[in-house]
Amino acid sequence: MQSRLVPVEEGKDPTIPSRTNQTRALPLRVLQLLVLFVALCIVFSVISMYMIRYFGVQSVVTTAKPTYQPCFEEPSSLDRWIRPPSNLLHTMSDKELLWRASFMPRIKTYPFRRVPKIAFMFLTKGPLPLAPLWDRFLKGHEGLYSIYVHSLPSFHAEFPSSSVFYKRQIPSKVAEWGRMSMCDAERRLIANALLDVYNERFILLSESCIPVYNFSIIYHYIMRSKYSFIGAFDDPGPFGRGRYNENMAPEVNITKWRKGSQWFES
Ligand SMILES: *[C@@H]1O[C@H](CO)[C@@H](O)[C@H](O)[C@H]1NC(C)=O
Ligand SMILES: *[C@@H]1O[C@H](CO)[C@@H](O)[C@H](O)[C@H]1NC(C)=O
Repeated sequence: MQSRLVPVEEGKDPTIPSRTNQTRALPLRVLQLLVLFVALCIVFSVISMYMIRYFGVQSVVTTAKPTYQPCFEEPSSLDRWIRPPSNLLHTMSDKELLWRASFMPRIKTYPFRRVPKIAFMFLTKGPLPLAPLWDRFLKGHEGLYSIYVHSLPSFHAEFPSSSVFYKRQIPSKVAEWGRMSMCDAERRLIANALLDVYNERFILLSESCIPVYNFSIIYHYIMRSKYSFIGAFDDPGPFGRGRYNENMAPEVNITKWRKGSQWFES
C-alpha cells in the first residue's frame, strides 16, 4: 500500500510546484488574451473608421435623404402636382416647355378647391413704365391673378420685392415686331402660364396697356364670359384696307378684311 501510495504522493508532490506555476501563469495568460483582445478591438475600430469614411458617408446620405425629400418633392400628396413653379426662370428649352405645358387633366372636375386665376402676360421690350398702376390695380387681389413678363433678354428687371412684377420674368428670347419671333414669344408666355393649373383666362398685354375698370369688375366680367377677345376692325385707312391685296379675292373680300394686333384675352 505504502509503496503504491508513495509514488502517488511522490507523483503528487512534483505536481504541486507545477500547479503553483500554472496558477502564476494563469493571470499572465489572461493578461495576454486581454492585450490581444484590446489590440483586436483597436484594429477593428480603425478598420471600421476607414469603412465609415469611404462607404459610411454614402450610406448616411442615402438614409438621410428620405428625411428631407418631402420638403422638395412631397411625392405622397397631390400638392406636388398643383403647386405652381416657385421659380419662373426654369432651364427648359422652348421644345421642352411646350411639351410640358401640353399636360392637361382628363377629368374636368377638380378634387380640391380651385379658385381660377387670370394670367396677365406682358409682352414687352424692357421697362414697364405703368408698373405702379398695375401694382395698385392688383393690390388686395392676391390669389386671383398671376403675372408673366417676357422682355428682351438683355433687359434686367429691377422691380422692388413689393411689386407684382417682382421675379415674374420668364426665360425670354429676342422678339421682333412683325416677325415670327413675336409669335414664339407669345407661345412662350402662354406655355409658362399653363404650368399653373389655377390659370384659367389669359390676357396678352403690352407695356402701354392700362386697366380702365377695377379688378373685381374685370375679373368677374372675364370669368363669366363665354368668349375670347381679340382686336379686329375694318380700318378704311392706309394701314387697314390700304394693305389689302387683290390676289386674296375671292377667298378674302375687301369687306371681310380686318386690321388687328396680337393683343388678346382668352
Ligand atoms: C369697382 O368698381 C365698381 C363700379 O365702379 C364699384 O361698385 C366697386 O365697389 C369697385 N370695387 C372695388 C373693390 O373697389
Ligand atoms: C366679294 O365682293 C364682290 C363685290 O365686290 C361680290 O360680288 C362677291 O360676291 C364677294 N365675294 C364673296 C366671297 O363674298
